[in-house]
Amino acid sequence: MHQNVALARPIGRLCLTAPERKTAVATFNRERNSRHRRVRATRAAVIPNSDKLSPISGPTLSKKIRSIPEDDAQNMNLFCVSPRGLSVAPIGIPEQKFNTNLEAPFPWVVGPTSCEAESWSSQELASFIRMSSKEIQRGLDRHGAILFRGFGLSTPEDFAAVVKAFAWEPFPYVGGNAVRTNVVGDYVFTANEAPSHRQIPFHHELAQTPSYPTKVLFFCQVPAESGGATPIVQSNIVYERLQALHPDFIEQVESYGVRYVRTMSMEDREASAIGRGWKNTLNVDTKKDAESKLQEMGCEWEWLSEDHLKQTSPILPAVKHHEPSGCKQFFNQVVAAYNGWQDELNAPGQAVVDGRGLPLNEEAVGAAANIMDEECVAFKYQVGDVLLLDNLTVMHSRHSFTGPRRILASLLK
Ligand SMILES: [Fe+2]
Repeated sequence: MHQNVALARPIGRLCLTAPERKTAVATFNRERNSRHRRVRATRAAVIPNSDKLSPISGPTLSKKIRSIPEDDAQNMNLFCVSPRGLSVAPIGIPEQKFNTNLEAPFPWVVGPTSCEAESWSSQELASFIRMSSKEIQRGLDRHGAILFRGFGLSTPEDFAAVVKAFAWEPFPYVGGNAVRTNVVGDYVFTANEAPSHRQIPFHHELAQTPSYPTKVLFFCQVPAESGGATPIVQSNIVYERLQALHPDFIEQVESYGVRYVRTMSMEDREASAIGRGWKNTLNVDTKKDAESKLQEMGCEWEWLSEDHLKQTSPILPAVKHHEPSGCKQFFNQVVAAYNGWQDELNAPGQAVVDGRGLPLNEEAVGAAANIMDEECVAFKYQVGDVLLLDNLTVMHSRHSFTGPRRILASLLK
């Protein structure tokens, strides 16, 4: 069972009728806001300034969660009651961190209050999401990632119902490298099916193409026996630290952009983490249609022996400005392409160059990977977890794992 923070407990311990609960929630929110106002005065003393992202746990966690500014407390109020009167509250997990730039926990984790967990269903959560779409968008702008935990989801259909409830359009997986299988319609599919011993480096989903989803969702149907996390990291922190360490590298990729180069076979190769064949990558059946698609995407291409296709992307930005936060993001697939795009058709270190065709600094790419590992949050999945990511501000990766892990994904824009 999840660990509720102190603020959520007064309601969670009571099993009330709907009208009683409504009154209790209103009182609880009023008292909490008053507490937030008192804590604001001492917030500077509570939040350390040295680290951009500080691990939080135990008693410190409560202090950090309580120190969320008042406008966010307003946001939480609206997160508290579902259409049937069931209550939702922020909860704490041991792996959570606190972003001192944004003054917000990362990820934001929400769940039902304890005595109501069994009353939830996918339909109930879907109604709650439909009702709270504005607040979810605000929460995503602020925190970058929201983990919905403990809502009783278990099947792909449960996840599909939740995906449909979000107010965003489905985004087809075209142009990506990963071998995937559709599970519900063409909008819920398996996460990267690369062999379990392979680690998938950090990336923004489909940042190697001109068109990418703005949201990524993951659903845990079966957690791995060991490993198998989906680590997440905030790109503005990566940008800031990398600029301090390797300003020339940042200037190079920010000024000239980057191009991605990948050679694909015609059909999928499941043994490779980048083994999606060109037919599935481009969603076509013939070479002629593939060429039309590549032209549409602004790519250059070359046909090699055995119907292999070498694709070079147009020049794409490696850094993006994110308006809601005002931060620059290290928005690209540079680390994944440089370190991870390698198999029998793709040589290491050659999958990404700058917009002039010049190579990238290996040391700087290595530093970027280290920063991502240091700043990331890798939480242990529980059955039914739904992780919503802002793909414009948060990168994800995959740890290697053992056991029959089944994580589903969906892309939205
Ligand atoms: Fe991905």
